[in-house]
Amino acid sequence: MSKKNLVFSGVQPTGNLHLGNYLGAIKNFVSLQNNMECIFCVVDLHAITTFQDPKKLKKNILETTAVFLAAGINENKNIIFNQSSVAGHSELAWILNCVSRVGWLNRMTQFKDKAGKDKEKASVGLYIYPNLMAADILLYKATHVPVGADQKQHLELARDIAQKFNNDFNVKEFFPLPEALLSKNISRVMSLRDGTKKMSKSEDSEFSRINLKDNPDDIVKKIKKAKTDSDPIPDNLGDLKERPEALNLLNIYSDIKGENIEKTLKEMAGKDFSYFKPKLSETLIETVSPIGNKIKNLLKDETFLRDVIKKGKEKANLKAEENLKKIREIVGFV
Ligand code: TRP
Repeated sequence: MSKKNLVFSGVQPTGNLHLGNYLGAIKNFVSLQNNMECIFCVVDLHAITTFQDPKKLKKNILETTAVFLAAGINENKNIIFNQSSVAGHSELAWILNCVSRVGWLNRMTQFKDKAGKDKEKASVGLYIYPNLMAADILLYKATHVPVGADQKQHLELARDIAQKFNNDFNVKEFFPLPEALLSKNISRVMSLRDGTKKMSKSEDSEFSRINLKDNPDDIVKKIKKAKTDSDPIPDNLGDLKERPEALNLLNIYSDIKGENIEKTLKEMAGKDFSYFKPKLSETLIETVSPIGNKIKNLLKDETFLRDVIKKGKEKANLKAEENLKKIREIVGFV
């Protein structure tokens, strides 16, 4: 059987995407499109596992589409679409719900984090969220999935589900076992207020994150206020172990420049953060502002954005239906 490489990844339409979303995922998508066939999905079905205001959801789906385009994903070369527009995601998710095991889902750490103390009140959707993610990937028989470290466990589950399906139905290698693409340069982008927490939209303080739509003044202000310490920058990574905020800023700088952190440390060793921060702001502004401006411009043309995901939906649907036809047959549906 020919195994063509195919990349699939999804981003939740949460609105106001930030530097963590860009460096952790979307920037990586842009480089992948040159080497492989790619499908990039705005995962709105995943978003509703926690309640979303319908008006905001609509806006956020279009905004996430705009972010993909503004970051440099080519909509003609790749497929960009929103998950709910291809019904196959839900259909395959149901089938996979019946393949996946309760014991497997009980091990998912993200559910435990997201459901919080009162698990009884979490939606059932939030619990079976990883099965839907498996369906996203397997619906297209994707072989490679760029994900952040926090999604690795879900990807391993998708592999287990694929394998169990192949075994249960005696269809060896029907679903390829998808591989995670964790780029070595991509570090987790942490909060600017607390270097041990991930940069997140849900943190209260706006000063904890750089949003892609921030203007240059905001970026300068946020970096100026970012937590650091009074020691100079060391010349080796080991000395940053106990300095998470310092490490985070140096990582961001390196990621944006596409260099490894050792090179940055060589360049900056012995300097204080008062010297480094303006350089970081400058670098951020050079990269983030053009993207932010493009996002803002794209948002003015809703018709265009709707058109992009409509075309993407048509392309995705053709592929999905082709695979679903076989899946229904395998399962025994008439
Ligand atoms: N769960 C992923 C996240 O929150 C998003 C996602 C949904 C995804 N389906 C996917 C990522 C399929 C990769 C492949 O980041």
